Amino acid sequence: MKKQTILVTGGLGYIGSHTSVALLENGYDIIIIDNLTNSNISVLGKIEELTKKKPLFYNFDIREKLKIREVLDNHSIDGVIHFAAFKKITESIEDPLLYYDNNIIGAIKLIEAFQEKGIYKFIFSSSATVYGNTNKSPVKEDAPRFSSNPYGATKLMVENILYDLVSANDLWKIGVLRYFNPVGAHPSALLGEIPEKIPSNLMPYINLVANGDLSHLNIFGGDYNTPDGTPIRDYIHVTDLAEAHVAALIKLEVQKGFNAFNLGTGNGVTVLEMINTFEKCNGVKVKYKIVGRREGDAESIYADPSKANKTLKWKAKKNLIEMCEDSWRWQKRF
Ligand code: NAD
Ligand code: WQD
Repeated sequence: MKKQTILVTGGLGYIGSHTSVALLENGYDIIIIDNLTNSNISVLGKIEELTKKKPLFYNFDIREKLKIREVLDNHSIDGVIHFAAFKKITESIEDPLLYYDNNIIGAIKLIEAFQEKGIYKFIFSSSATVYGNTNKSPVKEDAPRFSSNPYGATKLMVENILYDLVSANDLWKIGVLRYFNPVGAHPSALLGEIPEKIPSNLMPYINLVANGDLSHLNIFGGDYNTPDGTPIRDYIHVTDLAEAHVAALIKLEVQKGFNAFNLGTGNGVTVLEMINTFEKCNGVKVKYKIVGRREGDAESIYADPSKANKTLKWKAKKNLIEMCEDSWRWQKRF
């Protein structure tokens, strides 16, 4: 098969950078577009260091459709993996327009450019957030979808747009990948998630408590109906997620239409289990206090990944220990 070139929007971000490495390692050429709003140009060098290949890079905002057209006109591109978006739930509640503008207009401009050019292979970064705070796990892809915040609404809306595109034109080959809780970093510690001062997600918060930047972790709720009273999630290593994008691209060679896949391990893990594993495998202490529940949080949500396992011939391989070790190895660089 001819070597394919894939456009990766947001390819210098957390999941995009790991996927860029996986694509290059699997023989794809890539072109990255990223406006560096939540990433750093140094990531490009790290991708090159890991793969010994230098991807083409464009620094612009994907809402600039003419610039996307220029890239599509100047290169022979076979498809796109679309990561570029904002992702903070709290920020989306405080400034919904920022999110509707970047995440929905961004996707529309990208889709328009591809449609005009007649390139129909499209993979979209969606999220388990489209299942809202359901308490019916394991979650299958046909579970009811609803949004509980503006960020989630943008994911739902872009999914709906992609669904309608397929109804209008059966040339589209669309993969919608619903990530559960991505954690960890590249085992080399060259790539990972840029640490925030006060993170809202669990794993980066644990990192900062372990290194002493934050005094303790507030566990949001210890009275849930779970084995230890803390909520259950499906944490998945970011390199496993990256591999799933390669598997999805391969599948889209032969599968048309709209295809949604849950990307998780299928294993539910409580907050206390995560803390205990992190402490044990990294030899550090993570102080915590149990406080009230966080509004909107589900008690327990984990994937039924069997559709992705079967159809994509992909399975998450890394366990909780590897997630905690790689996450800490990355954090120690700062
Ligand atoms: P990230 O912020 O690390 O990466 C996003 C990248 O896109 C950044 O490099 C940013 O600079 C770039 N970007 C943002 N808006 C852009 C624009 N308009 N034009 C060009 N570049 C732009 O986020 P991530 O964790 O890698 O997430 C990637 C995708 O996966 C997002 O769509 C996110 O919503 C989705 N997702 C993430 C998680 C998670 O927990 N990290 C879970 C589910 C889904
Ligand atoms: C995990 C668990 C918290 C922080 C969110 C989005 C989802 C996806 C991933 C983008 C929960 C508990 C957390 C803390 C805690 N992102 N926790 N103290 O909420 O499952 O998912 O991020 O698409 O869409 O909703 O992830 O990491 O915030 O929380 O006790 O300081 O850790 O209550 O049980 P969540 P999270």
